[in-house]
Amino acid sequence: MPHRPYVIDQLISAKSIAARIEDLAREIKTEFGGTDKLVVVGLLRGSFVFIADLVRELDLPVEVDFLEASSYGDGMESTREVRILKDLRGQIEGRDVLVVEDIVDTGHTLHHVTDYLGTRHPAKLRTIALLDKPARREVPLKADWTGFEIPDEFVVGYGIDFAQRNRNLPFIGKVRFTK
Ligand code: IMP
Ligand code: MG
Repeated sequence: MPHRPYVIDQLISAKSIAARIEDLAREIKTEFGGTDKLVVVGLLRGSFVFIADLVRELDLPVEVDFLEASSYGDGMESTREVRILKDLRGQIEGRDVLVVEDIVDTGHTLHHVTDYLGTRHPAKLRTIALLDKPARREVPLKADWTGFEIPDEFVVGYGIDFAQRNRNLPFIGKVRFTK
């Protein structure tokens, strides 16, 4: 997978992410406190680091499930047609569901996924995205909680990839081509 050479400039530090997740977890506990039927649904693969840190800040009884929707492939452009590649293992009818996304970009993925899960009649359906790029939106939609709004830059790290690389960076960085 040859790519133009690039470097990664840090945009959000690991420390800032951790601090923001503590705040988000407090808000989420308020929303779902007192329930014992919460299912936290991570969208593969980009949300795997975020969901791991988020659920460990939630001292609530939670179940974790995963869904995979088609996305960028190996490029930098969003495919507007969203398909479900891997479905949930568990039932969500009558459950409280929190969908965890890495980035809301055009909005097509989260729009499609919430429509799809909504047909299964969860008691409550909420969404959280670590990052939001409002400048790129094509579908009017906002996650119920957002970690950080960022400019229209291609970012990697903390679970998020460029052509499957850089998911293991502990911070969020932006890709800058050097040629
Ligand atoms: P949307 O359907 O355009 O909102 O795109 C959502 C998906 O595109 C996200 O879940 C990411 O997987 C991917 N994506 C969007 N922006 C970026 C980026 O800057 N870096 C890496 N992946 C991205
Ligand atoms: Mg994604």
